[in-house]
Amino acid sequence: MSPSRAPAPKKSEGRSSSRRSVTPRSHASAEDPASTREEGEQVLGVSGLGFVGVAMAIAFAHYGHRVVTYDVVDARRAAIAEGRAPFFDPGLQEELTAAVESGRLKVAKDREELFRKASVLFLCLPTPPRPDGSVDTSFLEEEAARLGKLLARAEGWRLVVVKSTSPPGTSQKIEKILARESGKKPGRDFSVACNPEFLAEGSLVADALEPSRIVIGVGDAKSERALRESYRGFPGAVVVLPPAAGELVKYASNALLAVKVSFANEMARLAERIGVDVYPVMEAVGMDPRLGAHFLRAGPGFGGSCFPKDLRGLVAFAHHRGVAMPVTDGALGVNETQARHVVDLTESALGSLVAGREVALLGLAFKSGTDDVRESRAFPILGELLKRGALVRLHDPKALEVFRRSLPPAVAAAEDRQLRFCTSVEDALRGASLALVQCDWPEYREVPLTLWKQLKDRLVVDARRSVNGPALERAGVHYAAVGLGQE
Ligand code: UDX
Repeated sequence: MSPSRAPAPKKSEGRSSSRRSVTPRSHASAEDPASTREEGEQVLGVSGLGFVGVAMAIAFAHYGHRVVTYDVVDARRAAIAEGRAPFFDPGLQEELTAAVESGRLKVAKDREELFRKASVLFLCLPTPPRPDGSVDTSFLEEEAARLGKLLARAEGWRLVVVKSTSPPGTSQKIEKILARESGKKPGRDFSVACNPEFLAEGSLVADALEPSRIVIGVGDAKSERALRESYRGFPGAVVVLPPAAGELVKYASNALLAVKVSFANEMARLAERIGVDVYPVMEAVGMDPRLGAHFLRAGPGFGGSCFPKDLRGLVAFAHHRGVAMPVTDGALGVNETQARHVVDLTESALGSLVAGREVALLGLAFKSGTDDVRESRAFPILGELLKRGALVRLHDPKALEVFRRSLPPAVAAAEDRQLRFCTSVEDALRGASLALVQCDWPEYREVPLTLWKQLKDRLVVDARRSVNGPALERAGVHYAAVGLGQE
């Protein structure tokens, strides 16, 4: 993340060189972005102040743009207006304070004000999964219907940008709704574009400030100019595509990243069987620049608000069009069985069943650096442990309470008998038979050997390579890990 706040830096600073080295070639038209400067007065609107909306609003303001934001939740608008980060992510609070103090980031009191002030409006609304896995775009559609009514009375051209991850064809659907509700003509009175985000939790601000690429899906030159102008000052190549292609980029990106993770987990299972450590293997594999070093770390499987949902959404979308997606499906399949595999690995390292034993399950977030537990692999691992009759002591430095609140009622009911929530690692390990590390929080690496040695079965199973295995082994604690074959 760039340390400088304002004015916006010209060059990217402070991000990993690996990120910069993979900057793709631009497929943009040869138009000079400077030639659009006369539109530099445009005000950018952001509707929806979740992870994406907040990070993008901050990034636009950081690069000197005027931004007006809106969210239906009063408390969320109040937090942003006061410069209070509504959730934790590294650097978010500092950048939000800077954006609000600069006067460039404002909060609209209502949607009317947002729409009146913003000529380019980014929709950062949720696109949750339906029960069948397909993507529910109704938040976007309902917003488009409301905006269409405002558009009917508005002066001047507007660009509505679908930022939310949404299936190919969504921008077109939004355009139809806006046209129907406003009676105005697409292309002349307004346009709709897509502009997918590639923000990962734990590095939201850094990813927003230094995008690996800026993908814009546009159908006309005016939209392209307005979007290029919106990203004036940002590093990263601009890739210009038709809207449906732009929308597909996001799904293809997440699917391929998840495929890499599942592939690493598949290799891990083989490595465990043949007595090989999969980590140095995948590191060597990733040294081939055609393959890339990232997302090859075996573990408990992928979670979070995006990968599982987006892969299922992609498969459902393709399925409805008669297209099979065996690779993406396979990645989901490996992921679904990985939690069970982790518990099998635990029983095999223990040489016995976990039934009746106290297991310290360390790390409940879907990855370290966040308190987000959505689709965390800790849920299926916990489910498997409980099903096999273990007593589970749960710990996470940030996500303990949110995990507790997110437990399905049937599991929460086990609290008295089988579950214990521990606010310190010491408490989780005290009296436990073994520990299972689900999340690579740095805290776990710092746990003194004396504490691990108190485990009754003297066993640590590490799903993420979070702790120092050789040091544990030297101290007489058996260390087993995903992808670590035992001779
Ligand atoms: C992801 C994408 O990275 C981001 O571009 C997109 O916009 C949203 O989805 P996020 O869900 O925040 O971001 O997390 P990410 O860091 O990508 O990790 C996803 C999951 O894969 C996590 O559960 C993580 O632990 C797992 N993972 C990742 C691995 O198991 N091994 C790896 O090598 C990398």
